[in-house]
Parts: sequence; C-alpha cells; structure tokens
Amino acid sequence: MNDYCFFFWFDCMSENWQSERRNDPYYRKAKKECYRSRASYKLKQLDKRFKLIKQGCSVVDLGAAPGGWSQVALEKVGEEGKVIGVDLNKIKPFKEKNFYSVVGDFTKIEIQDKIMEVLGGKARVLISDASPKLSGIKNLDQLRSIDLTNVVIEIADDILEDKGNLAMKVFQGAEYKKMLVDLKKKFRQVKTTKPPSSRKKSSEMYVVGLGFKSSEK
Ligand SMILES: C[S@@+](CC[C@H](N)C(=O)[O-])C[C@H]1O[C@@H](n2cnc3c(N)ncnc32)[C@H](O)[C@@H]1O
Repeated sequence: MNDYCFFFWFDCMSENWQSERRNDPYYRKAKKECYRSRASYKLKQLDKRFKLIKQGCSVVDLGAAPGGWSQVALEKVGEEGKVIGVDLNKIKPFKEKNFYSVVGDFTKIEIQDKIMEVLGGKARVLISDASPKLSGIKNLDQLRSIDLTNVVIEIADDILEDKGNLAMKVFQGAEYKKMLVDLKKKFRQVKTTKPPSSRKKSSEMYVVGLGFKSSEK
C-alpha cells in the first residue's frame, strides 16, 4: 500500500469508527449522563444483576482509566466507602475525596504493594476491565488478556475479604476454561455473562465471582 492509499484507508477507517461511535446508544447515553466512558454501563448492568457493590465498601478497580467504572463504584459506595483506581495512565481526579488513584502496572509487585498501602486493609470488591494493548493477532491478544486476568486473580487472593466479590473482563480463548475452574475453587459462585452494553462483535466476556473463600478468616 503506498502512502496515498494508506491515508485514504486510514481516513475511511477513522470515519467509520467515528460514525459507529456517534450512532452507539451507550456512547450517546454516557455523554448525556456525564459518564467518563460507555463502559460505565457494563459495570452498572453487572452490578444490577449480581449486587456486587454495597454502600460503604472498599472497591479496587484495576485498569481503571479513564474512570467510568470507578465513577459507578463511587456512586454505589457513597461517602463512607473507598474506591482505588489503578491504571498505566493517569486518571483525571474526581471531586469525591474517597477516590484514590494509583498510576502504574498492576502486574508489578511494587504497584501491588502501593495498592495494599492505599487500601490499608482488605477490599470488599475487586473489579477489572483491564485490556492489554491489542496487537490485532487474535491468539496473542487472548493470551495477554488471560495473563492479566491471572494477575487479577492473584491480587484477589491477597486483597479480597472473606465473601468479597470480583468482576473482570476476559477474552475467551485457550486457558479460559482452566481459569474458570481455578476461580470456582476460590468463590462460592462463578458466573459468566456479556452485559447488553458490551458490543456484540467484541469477544469480551465478564466473569463474576461471588463470595470469596478467604483462607484467612
Ligand atoms: C478498557 S480500558 C478500562 C475502561 C474503564 N473501565 C472505564 O470504564 O473507564 C482498559 C484499561 O486497562 C489498562 N491496563 C491494561 N493493562 C494494565 C496494567 N498491566 N496495569 C494497569 N493498567 C492496565 C489500560 O491502560 C486501559 O486504560
């Protein structure tokens, strides 16, 4: 493809993407209702169905930028709760004083230590909508995603309180079934779902673990 063809292709793609976005009802709803991302509705729908987040609880949000899930979590926990958003990218501050931002890679021990320090105890809910940087190579992207979810599960082992809840994004592929088997040993109930706001063409799924079985009761 020469430069001219590339720019023409790029223009068409970005025009398609922009018009798809403009016509997306959740994108429009998020703009109207002042949510930071259309992804907010995925957590709202998961929470409505599974009653994940209660008033006053502590929530850790891994892969949180630009903050759509943290925003929903802040609404749910109210003033007595606490939300910690962790991302490689900086998250624009919220007006709420009970939001704490940790910038960095949550797969790194030093960032996990930082999360523990900010949390100052155990979390009631762990949520993660983290996505790896997509390469476009399906198998590679699925493996990277599973690597991230495995780290989320390790973090859950350390920070979730007994009977705590987990909700995280996964891309189905090799290792997906094994991951579900492992989760079923750690949670009283494990459900997989695709909320209505998740785009049909996306292979993302959401896994919900209810009632963490802590070894340190
Ligand atoms: C789909 S976005 C999350 C959207 C968010 N739930 C919302 O509603 O605004 C995925 C995020 O995961 C983050 N991410 C991916 N890998 C990460 C890692 N290892 N550590 C921290 N953040 C990571 C990316 O930087 C990106 O901001």
